[in-house]
Amino acid sequence: MRGADDLSQPARLVAGNWKMNGASGALREAHALAEALSQAPAACRVALFPPALLIHRMAEQVAGSSVQVGAQDCHAESDGAYTGDLSAEMLHEAGARLVILGHSERRTGYRESDADVTAKVEAALRGGLEPVVCVGETLEQRDAGRALDVVAVQLQGSLPDSLDGHPFAVAYEPIWAIGTGRTPTVEQVEVVHGRIHALLAARFASGAAIPVLYGGSVKPSNAAELLHARGVDGALVGGASLKAADFLPIVRAA
Ligand code: 13P
Repeated sequence: MRGADDLSQPARLVAGNWKMNGASGALREAHALAEALSQAPAACRVALFPPALLIHRMAEQVAGSSVQVGAQDCHAESDGAYTGDLSAEMLHEAGARLVILGHSERRTGYRESDADVTAKVEAALRGGLEPVVCVGETLEQRDAGRALDVVAVQLQGSLPDSLDGHPFAVAYEPIWAIGTGRTPTVEQVEVVHGRIHALLAARFASGAAIPVLYGGSVKPSNAAELLHARGVDGALVGGASLKAADFLPIVRAA
């Protein structure tokens, strides 16, 4: 793994997004993962993003291990009259160190715009959370030959300039590959990741060190191929991150 001050290449990260899955019994999976990585350290960073209610307990459980804990979203403000929401500061206090922002399930389900995501990224920085910013096209957009343009617009619109020099990651998650069992070809992944890396390098002084993760139906059987595609610096894994027995081989493939 590279040193934290090495800005020449991205630190690889394999992240597990539990989405709205996992009651307290699922904490045993985090424990099993941390145990396994204590015995045989991973060659990459590893993070789990459980439902917010589990962050505190999971963070306590994996304390001292290499597993980091993150949140799946945060509000753009630090506090105030926002019923049902959680701020970056609150999530940090609970033990989160990263936060997924702009996931397609939030862009679609909650109509989050690029501007909303930018505001949340700024909030994450204020609250001490490392953002993992998601972009990705629909099947309709890909079939229309617009995947690269869509991703470029989302990327530029979702990242504030203030990110430069801060640790953050981008996740390319084609919407049609999320939870469907379908994945893009290695070539399709490499084309999009190449474009994302080029845009990041053009915009941020720290661009070369920003990891670009692939997400969408990553599982043990396809992890090695996807994780070793050119320009892929890790994975954002949904369903296959819920069980340590599935997630561990993906971590090992990185
Ligand atoms: P799946 O791995 O279940 O397709 O989910 C991907 C994802 O959305 C991760 O954020």
